Amino acid sequence: MSDAETPAYPVDNVNRVKRRHDRGFYDHETVHALLDAAALCHVSYVIDGLPYCTPTLFWREGGTLFWHGSSASRMLRNQSEGQPACLTVTHLDSLVLARCGFNHSADYRSVMAFGHARLVEDPAEKEAALVAMVDRLFPACTASLRQSSAQEIKATAVVSMKIERASAKIRAKRVVDEDEDYPLPIYAERLPVRTVIGQPEPCPRLVDGVARPDTLAGYRAGRALEEALAEAHAVTYSPATPPGSLASSGLPQEGAVMTPGMMQVIREQRLGFVATVNADGTPNLSPKGTFAVVDAATVALAEIRSPGTLRNLAANPAVEVNFVDPFTRRGCRLFGTARIVRRGEAEFDGLLPWFADHGSLVPRTRAVVLIALTRALPPSSPAYDDGSSEDGLRRSWTDRFRALQPGGRFMG
Ligand SMILES: Cc1cc2nc3c(=O)[nH]c(=O)nc-3n(C[C@H](O)[C@H](O)[C@H](O)COP(=O)(O)O)c2cc1C
Repeated sequence: MSDAETPAYPVDNVNRVKRRHDRGFYDHETVHALLDAAALCHVSYVIDGLPYCTPTLFWREGGTLFWHGSSASRMLRNQSEGQPACLTVTHLDSLVLARCGFNHSADYRSVMAFGHARLVEDPAEKEAALVAMVDRLFPACTASLRQSSAQEIKATAVVSMKIERASAKIRAKRVVDEDEDYPLPIYAERLPVRTVIGQPEPCPRLVDGVARPDTLAGYRAGRALEEALAEAHAVTYSPATPPGSLASSGLPQEGAVMTPGMMQVIREQRLGFVATVNADGTPNLSPKGTFAVVDAATVALAEIRSPGTLRNLAANPAVEVNFVDPFTRRGCRLFGTARIVRRGEAEFDGLLPWFADHGSLVPRTRAVVLIALTRALPPSSPAYDDGSSEDGLRRSWTDRFRALQPGGRFMG
């Protein structure tokens, strides 16, 4: 898919990221991934000339956002036109202490979505929304709950907002100071921040024999909340992973789509190890450094000099690819089905923009391999078993790689 074909929200004066516009994104993939990795948002709107900003749980269904009514429902009750509203989500990734006040900063990923809020009044639409409100967080859970009474349904107001415009803004940097400030004897650091899931606390009034459902396996202590939320959303809304499909196999949780964390590793590292099956049944494993994320369920690679991989995939499209961030030991094992688009085929030129930043390798691409995912697993790294933190691992591997460079420092 070329950039021109990438689905994106229209940009105008309302949603254009003006300050630090290089940090602005408008494509559906980026905006939706950040929304789906969150449960909590802030919705702002005006009632009788007064601004309100309400923190509330929300979820996305296609291009529409939903949340509880609360005070907004008062304003909306007699409004069929809908009221202008703005919903925001922020993931705080770090605090940055620089060598001067001006360069203090934070790493973050945020979204602003604009539209008109409407009360969901149609009974069937409201019932579906109330199911989604639970299942978006806890896949396939509503079916196991006591049915809501008519009174409970009446008492719950649901608001929907079709996203008319949206922008994402992302800062993902380290300490950035003025060149002349680096020699100063001033301490500076980036303080990574993550929201992780705590130990689940079963209700003390549980009836004997009631066990935690398998569908909650993704919510486990120590896991990043945003990963679990993105996965729960994908399981509920992706047809490839129907609700209830989370297996209780003892393996790490799986889904047919990648989490935002997995996609980040692929975009940053780009180097994946590709396993295919030779004609005699033996494995073929080779590195490819041109990986691109097409969407949360598809990755692509440029075939430049991989006759073995191509020959194997043409005969048997089953493939596994592994990505690992060498610093944090995070990444993914992706399983899928490959489709080869060779140079000369109609689709080929439209796929090349995925590899635009590979420079001189692009003209040498002989085929693009598109991999539709059937499973995406995080690798379970033993490095974390004994309580290591991501930050600690990053530090120690950075030191090790630095020591491996000539002169004890990174080159370039
Ligand atoms: C770091 C690294 C990255 C590579 N990236 C690619 C790539 O993106 N595409 C490609 O066709 N070959 C790439 N290669 C070359 C293949 O891995 C290499 O030619 C390999 O022997 C191909 O084996 P195969 O024919 O069994 O696939 C890369 C090699 C290295 C070391």
